[in-house]
Amino acid sequence: MSVTVHPLYAGLMARRSGNARALAAPGPDEMTLQAIVKAGAQAPDHGRLVPFRFLRIADAARPRLADLLEASSRELQQEIAAPEIERAREKAHQGPEILTLIGRIDAAHPKITASDQWLAVGCALENVLLAVQAAGFAAAVRSGKFLETKAMREGFALGENEHLTCLIAIGTPTDWPPAKPKPELDRVFAVWNG
Ligand SMILES: Cc1cc2nc3c(=O)[nH]c(=O)nc-3n(C[C@H](O)[C@H](O)[C@H](O)COP(=O)(O)O)c2cc1C
Repeated sequence: MSVTVHPLYAGLMARRSGNARALAAPGPDEMTLQAIVKAGAQAPDHGRLVPFRFLRIADAARPRLADLLEASSRELQQEIAAPEIERAREKAHQGPEILTLIGRIDAAHPKITASDQWLAVGCALENVLLAVQAAGFAAAVRSGKFLETKAMREGFALGENEHLTCLIAIGTPTDWPPAKPKPELDRVFAVWNG
């Protein structure tokens, strides 16, 4: 079947997450990074609200990001052990490139539902992940409650409708985690007979 040999389909089927701790230099150069983010902006987007934006973490800002990640962990957990603080801080140093994906959701929009807007954010993320891999790199996504704290919201000067959804570490893979099993077709696809 032709779909199995189409390069786009092959790329889709080959996508997998990288290991954040095994992303070495080099990362994508400037032009490639822009092409990757443009792929994100290609996402389907009901109402064209553009409910997403990407921020590149400047190298010089990594220590500041580490401080914010530590402050965020302390905010979530009063009694926190040194290794956990280190695990929080190290996210600021994984991969030669780090992007953050910010969702901007207008929950009161008269026509476009919040879920439609979130789906556009997710599509933008998937497009970026696919473009990263198509460019010969690997990406590792990190998310969690640590992105929703006052420390992070203030540190990134988020607007009221904005949400820090994830960190995307990008680099040259020196190792891959084991491939994750994917659902069988019958788990995700059926016929509705009315
Ligand atoms: C929105 C989002 C957030 C994620 N957050 C994390 C995370 O915090 N930690 C992690 O190890 N993986 C995270 N992942 C990656 C998933 O764990 C991964 O996609 C899943 O295990 C399937 O593996 P695959 O990407 O190789 O197919 C995230 C993925 C998405 C889409």
